[in-house]
Amino acid sequence: MEKQINWLDILIRCRNNLQEQIKPLLKTLDQLQPKLGIGAGGDPIKQIDLVAERAIVNTLKEHEISFTLISEESGIEKYGQTPHDNYVTLDPIDGTTNLVRGIPFYATSIAISTRPTINTIHTALVTDLVHSTTYTAQKGKGAYCNNQKTAPSKTKFLETAVVGIDLNTYKAKKTARKLTNLIQKTKHIRHLGANALELCHVADGTTDAFIDIRGKLRTTDIAAAWLIIEESGAKITTPDGKPINVKLSPKQKVAFIAAANQKIHRVILNLMRLEKEIE
Ligand code: IPD
Ligand code: CA
Repeated sequence: MEKQINWLDILIRCRNNLQEQIKPLLKTLDQLQPKLGIGAGGDPIKQIDLVAERAIVNTLKEHEISFTLISEESGIEKYGQTPHDNYVTLDPIDGTTNLVRGIPFYATSIAISTRPTINTIHTALVTDLVHSTTYTAQKGKGAYCNNQKTAPSKTKFLETAVVGIDLNTYKAKKTARKLTNLIQKTKHIRHLGANALELCHVADGTTDAFIDIRGKLRTTDIAAAWLIIEESGAKITTPDGKPINVKLSPKQKVAFIAAANQKIHRVILNLMRLEKEIE
């Protein structure tokens, strides 16, 4: 029989080890970095990504946990005797460009599930590595920020809202066209460069919505934040308003609309539908 694992405790230990291991590297980022090839998610691998990933894997191994790793860097790897008992979906550093360029906004994202599917995620952690803010969630138990229960904003109108939109793509023309009405109506638009963390900001009421309809984001980036959003009571769906029901894989892409509450989610969806009709 599989031993009982206190996943929340394990994820905190993973985070602590990662923070410890990347500390020396943060001081050498201005030096020439080794070329390490392309990661499973399709981006060039940085040394700090690999060190962060190893810190997580080593912590799990130290606790004799069997698992299948689904990582943006190393792809899919199996550990222990029963690797299909647990799936660990990992983005060791979300916001690598920010980190490398010295923009203080990047995170680690870890999700634990019983199958390689988003809707079987039961425990999640996203840590803001600059401000030492940790978001956690367990299925059915709410979302927490530094151990305090967290809730999204009650903002209902775009006219007073802060909305994040990721337009980071060479296909910006096509994507932006679908969002013109929304951009025009929204009081404040943001994109900070670490999507897992930006989703947590919707969960804790810092912002009112976060939208990424590029179809470019990997499920490894969103897995943990998905549960944190769901458990906070905020809403996250596909751009068509359907539940997000995707496979967890470094290659699987995802598009979404996350919003603080049903009302503002509907406002955003309706504006995007309007745009579609005009196309
Ligand atoms: C990136 C960030 C960024 C988003 C990119 C992602 P990474 O994650 O979340 O905000 O625009 O699409 O790839 O590559 O730093 O883990
Ligand atoms: Ca990453």
